[in-house]
Amino acid sequence: MLRPVLAIVLLNAGCALAQLNGRIVSPDGALEGVVVSARKEGSPVSVSVVSNAAGEYAFPAGRLEPGRYGMRIRATGYELDGLVSMELADAGAAEVELKLRKAADLSVQLTNAEWLASFPGSSEQKKFLYGCVGCHTLERVAKSTHDTAGFVAVMKRMAGYTNNSHAERPQVRLIARDPMRDFGPDADKQAAFLATLNRGPEAKPYTVQALPRVQGAGTRVVITEYELPRKPLMPHDVIVDEQGIVWFSQFDEQFLGRFDPRTLAYQEFPIPLQRPDYPKGTLDLEVDPQGNLWLSHMFQSGAVKFDKRTQKFQAYPLPKQLQNEHTQQSMVGPQRWTLDGKLWINDAGIPGLHRLDMKSGKWQTWKPYEGMKGPHSVYGIYADSKNNIFFMDFGGENVGRIDAKSGKLALYATPTPRSRPRRGRMDEEDRLWFAEWRAERIGMFDTRAEKFSEWPLPVQYFAPYDVVRDKTGKVWTAGMNSDRVLRLDLETGEYAEYPLPSPTNVRRVFVDNRTTPPTFWVGNNHHATLVKVEPLE
Ligand code: HEC
Repeated sequence: MLRPVLAIVLLNAGCALAQLNGRIVSPDGALEGVVVSARKEGSPVSVSVVSNAAGEYAFPAGRLEPGRYGMRIRATGYELDGLVSMELADAGAAEVELKLRKAADLSVQLTNAEWLASFPGSSEQKKFLYGCVGCHTLERVAKSTHDTAGFVAVMKRMAGYTNNSHAERPQVRLIARDPMRDFGPDADKQAAFLATLNRGPEAKPYTVQALPRVQGAGTRVVITEYELPRKPLMPHDVIVDEQGIVWFSQFDEQFLGRFDPRTLAYQEFPIPLQRPDYPKGTLDLEVDPQGNLWLSHMFQSGAVKFDKRTQKFQAYPLPKQLQNEHTQQSMVGPQRWTLDGKLWINDAGIPGLHRLDMKSGKWQTWKPYEGMKGPHSVYGIYADSKNNIFFMDFGGENVGRIDAKSGKLALYATPTPRSRPRRGRMDEEDRLWFAEWRAERIGMFDTRAEKFSEWPLPVQYFAPYDVVRDKTGKVWTAGMNSDRVLRLDLETGEYAEYPLPSPTNVRRVFVDNRTTPPTFWVGNNHHATLVKVEPLE
């Protein structure tokens, strides 16, 4: 049903600070934390703001060019009462009242975090479901009809897909992994639990619930979503260079993406294959001291370097004797390679790390967990100011260190057990900031003092993926479950919590320090958009 413009009051040009503003009207009165999005007809760009405590929203001047706009909202439990479209005149300002009604079907709106909060059981019991959100949301799980035996079969099938899989075009592993590895040591018990959550014969009733909307500081923000020109695409790591160009790794195809947010120009640089029979795509995207871009080459093995000047790739595959069916380079650590001519790289298949001597071409290997009881793994890797490498034990709870000179290995356990540290960043003072994915904390390891600090997150079932500190000292993270971005002020201990306008499979987080306050970027790994979050304070 297309309902014409609800209400437009044209104000005089120039006299209004806001270009488009208005009020949210709902059966429950004024609503804070409602995301309001406007998208010009035919445009790939969607701009969003968030309503304040009085239920008012405002798009700052200069954010929307003249034209016909469609509007949408996001607030679990509510929907727009009919389609809203409006005309924004040249140099004009408009006021649009948005009427909300109760959502007809809450189950199509829930985030993973809301599904997790709704499912019965303790959080310990439910956390293995974090292993189910990499390729699709938990809606599929909740709406399936499997019994226990059915779920055992489903979990086996899921374990046969590579982690760089889009639900619409999964990639299959040459050799399926042990399903226990991702889904925990007790798959049968988990299958029985899953069968109680869905619409099958063993289901038990429960009520789905929305989590509280954001308030206060988190509402003072402008969020821009840039839709990429084709779907599916999986922008995994998104970074912005000094010229404001956005570069991204593509999780399940062989190219490096380039996007100019000013002109919307989009380009793909194809990356040659190393192992044609193996799954495609890249993950980690890093910058080296010479300004080259580096991508971890996943199942294609090793890493590739991209020279922005010549626009050419150079591949550094693992030598044949180091490759096997499980070889997977998810991370590359070129941050300080010019210090000693050595490049660090992880190997999820061992699990361990390799180091390449760039001059001699010689490789060295470390297996930090050999002979130890698991689960342990080597995920995010970050070089300090001396090219010592620090690595995240995503399977367990350690931050590991390999000394660049002696090759000596050390493991440091996070204060919270089984925190599953995932990815992060080394700052200028050799402090490693990282996400404790399972423990719902921001972690910091002062590598010089060898001392940990941890900050619990204010949101339940967040599953933080990555952490980065900005130039003002604020620390950012985003999670794979709740479609929210967090900014922590270390001085006050307070978080600003920014809601994302769309379901967003969050991975690497990035801050563009050229702006004040710094601007946050993230890729939407399932829905082919690049997302920019600009706090207004
Ligand atoms: C590596 C990617 C990946 C992971 C991780 C993953 N899935 Fe899936 N899932 C898929 C793909 C691809 C499909 C669609 C194709 C299919 O059904 O095999 C799917 C479909 C489903 C479906 C709908 C189809 C059906 O048979 O009912 C369910 C239910 C499901 N997954 C459950 C799970 C559960 C439970 C987990 C965690 C234990 C999980 N998935 C983890 C990739 C994944």
